[in-house]
Amino acid sequence: MLRFETAGESHGECLVATLTGLPAGIPISLEEINHELWRRQQGFGRGGRMKIETDRVSVVSGIRHGQTIGSPIAMLLPNADWKNWTESLPVESGDPSLHKPVDRPRPGHADLAGAIKYNFPDARYILERASARETTARVAIGAVAKQFLKNFGIEVLSHVIAVGSKRLERVVEWGEIVAHSKKTEVLLGCVDADCEAEMKALVDEAYRTGDTIGGIFEVVAHGLPVGLGSHITWDSRLDGKLAQAIVCIQAVKGVEIGFAEDGALSFGSKVQDEIHYNKDERSFYRGNNRAGGLEGGMTNGEDLRVRGFLKPISTLRRPLESVDLTTREPAKAAYERSDVCVVPAAGVIGEAMVAIVLAGAMLEKFGGDSLAETLRNFENYQQQVRAF
Ligand SMILES: Cc1cc2nc3c(=O)[nH]c(=O)nc-3n(C[C@H](O)[C@H](O)[C@H](O)COP(=O)(O)O)c2cc1C
Repeated sequence: MLRFETAGESHGECLVATLTGLPAGIPISLEEINHELWRRQQGFGRGGRMKIETDRVSVVSGIRHGQTIGSPIAMLLPNADWKNWTESLPVESGDPSLHKPVDRPRPGHADLAGAIKYNFPDARYILERASARETTARVAIGAVAKQFLKNFGIEVLSHVIAVGSKRLERVVEWGEIVAHSKKTEVLLGCVDADCEAEMKALVDEAYRTGDTIGGIFEVVAHGLPVGLGSHITWDSRLDGKLAQAIVCIQAVKGVEIGFAEDGALSFGSKVQDEIHYNKDERSFYRGNNRAGGLEGGMTNGEDLRVRGFLKPISTLRRPLESVDLTTREPAKAAYERSDVCVVPAAGVIGEAMVAIVLAGAMLEKFGGDSLAETLRNFENYQQQVRAF
């Protein structure tokens, strides 16, 4: 029901984002979208590109007088860098001597497989689309999804658990993540100052040595009702949808729901979240949330916790070995201005992807052509849950 698409090249005129299937009547603030775009650009370890761009959204359809009107939402996100690429990446053929071919494919990128698959003599067009610049459009869409979810008391945030070998070894509660999200200076997105200082030292080391560094982010969704997603079919399971949503972020190589890795290495008695009942409040609760808020592919009312594992950035200032596509001789891989660490930014992108999946799951369960109708259906269901 809820569909989105992104278009655009990294150094083209702009990115384009479309979102179809949201009900009418959702209040939308452009400032909130711009704030999410700003968050994606932050983080200690970003490269020169983020100094050029100040992302701001321009909405061209689907939102009027500050609310959704039910029709497809289309957003444009201009690339400030385009002014430096008008002759190198023109829409018409232009002057071939001004094009900037990438003929020494970079290991760890789409460059070589993409050039072979799309039958281009070099990887320029592949790089342009594979670049994580595309995620600016996803974050804009996610920001709209977040504003939809807010009407149901659902919020989505992220924080950084690991950078390189430094890992925060404790559970971070929702309140801590909220407090941390209000900080205006974003370094590495870790809620623990001492741990963050050690992470920063590792990023500094990568800068010094011409290297790059990866890590782990955690996205947490708070305020979810019981029963989004379903155990009935493989493709209605919310865990599967979330796994795809996280692993399709550039450079994310693994996904974990709850404490999956720890769980896999432990005995069952140490892993499952035992069920309790509060008679005064007439509600079920768990002593722990090791399942990360999902059981049987459905939300269970606990916070949703999903983690993304990022490999270190592939483009190195000390380039890796590659092959010249023209001469077929060994050559150092091409270098284009590059980030050193993007774990906090990837967390913001993860939030966007999780928010989009959750917005879709809410609409599948509660439907509605207007927000008022969706809210009525939601409230009816919540009454049923309370009376269970
Ligand atoms: C926010 C963000 C920024 C990124 N910036 C860069 C970058 O500056 N240089 C680079 O080589 N890779 C960067 N990447 C990673 C590449 O986009 C990614 O590794 C590449 O497209 C290959 O895809 P894969 O790693 O998913 O296989 C970034 C990823 C994210 C999430």
